[in-house]
Amino acid sequence: MTAKSNPVSARAGIAGLGFYVPQRVLSNRDLEKMVETSDEWIRTRTGIVERHIAGQGEGTSDLSAEAARRALADARMKAEDIDLIIAATTTPDMPLPSCACFIQEKIGAKNAAAFDLGAACAGFVYALVAAEQFVKTGFYRNVLVIGADVISSFIDWTDRSTCVLFGDGAGAAILTPAGSGGILSSVLGSDGHYTDLLKISAGGSKMPASPETVTHKDHYLKMSGSEVFKLAVRGMAEAVNEALEKAGVKKEEVKCLIPHQANQRIIDAVVERMGFPKEKVFVNLQKYGNTSSASCAIALCEAVQEGKIKKKDKIVLATFGSGLVWGAMVMEW
Ligand code: ACO
Repeated sequence: MTAKSNPVSARAGIAGLGFYVPQRVLSNRDLEKMVETSDEWIRTRTGIVERHIAGQGEGTSDLSAEAARRALADARMKAEDIDLIIAATTTPDMPLPSCACFIQEKIGAKNAAAFDLGAACAGFVYALVAAEQFVKTGFYRNVLVIGADVISSFIDWTDRSTCVLFGDGAGAAILTPAGSGGILSSVLGSDGHYTDLLKISAGGSKMPASPETVTHKDHYLKMSGSEVFKLAVRGMAEAVNEALEKAGVKKEEVKCLIPHQANQRIIDAVVERMGFPKEKVFVNLQKYGNTSSASCAIALCEAVQEGKIKKKDKIVLATFGSGLVWGAMVMEW
C-alpha cells in the first residue's frame, strides 16, 4: 500500500500500549537445578527473581502479535488503521522475511508497510524515534512500534554468566499525531568500538551456521558482563541528561524514569550518577529479567497500567544495548 497524505504534525505521541510475555515462568530456583548458581547470587547481583521463556515453536512474531492486539485495543483502533509496523528485534523468527511482515499478517494490518529495526536493547527507543519521523512529516498517521525478543533461543543454558539474566517478551506502542504532549526530545547514539563486548558471532553472513559453529557454541550470546555494566551506566546517564537538556525539562520535573531493565545495580548506579530520586524509577526486571528490545516497552506499559504515569506527566525512557547503542526519550503523557 502507498502512504496516505496526512497533515504535518508538531508532535507524535503514544495512543495505546500493550505487552505480552510467554506463559512459562523460569525462576531462580529452577536455574539452580540447571547451572551452578543460587537464587541469592542472582537476586543480589541483578535483582531478577524470575523470567518468562517462550515455548517450543513460539517465535518473536507470536509474542509481538499479541502485544500489538493489546495495544490496538488500548488505542481503540483496528488493525486496518495501522499504516506502518516497525519491529525492533534482534531475534526475528528467521533471517527473512522480516518479523514485521509476520506480525502484519498475524494481526491483519492489511494497509501497513512493515520493516524490522535492529538496535538490541535500545531497539524500542530507536524504533519510536524512527516512527516519530514518519508521523511528524505526515508520511504515515498510525505507526505500530514493537520491541520484542525471544532471546532465550540464543542463550547457552549451560553458561551461568548469561543464562540467568535474560527473558522473553514483547511490548507494543501505537504512535500517532499528538493533540497535546507527546515526544519532546530524543537522543540516540552508538559506538561500534565495543562490538565485541556483547555479541552472537555465528548465524549471520560473516560466519554462517555450520556444524563447527554449533560445536563451538558460536551461535549463542556471549558477553563481557562487567565492561558492559560500566559502559551502560555512563551511556544511559549521559543520554538521559542530554535528552532532558534538549527538551528543556529539569530532572525535578520528571515524574517517572523508565530505564532498560537489565540489572537493578545498573539502574541504581545510573540514578545515583544523575542524582535522580529512586522512588521515581520504574523497575519490573524482578519479574521478567532482561527482555532486550522489549524491556523498555514492557516497563512503560506496566508503569501506565499501574497508574505510575498520568496525563501531563513528564517521563523519560533510557536504553542501552549491544553495539554499543543507547537512546533516551523525554515525553509528556
Ligand atoms: N551464579 C553464580 N556465580 C556466578 C554467576 C551465576 N549465575 N555468574 C557469574 N558468576 C561468578 C563468576 O564466575 C565470578 O566468579 P569468580 O570470581 O570465581 O571468577 C563471580 O561470580 C563474579 O563475576 P562478575 O562477572 O565479576 O560479577 P558481577 O558482579 O560483574 O555481575 C553481571 C555479573 C550480573 C553479569 C554484571 O556484570 C552485569 O549485570 N553486567 C551487565 C550485564 C548486562 O546488563 N547486559 C546486558 C546489557 S545490554 C543488553 O541488554 C543487550
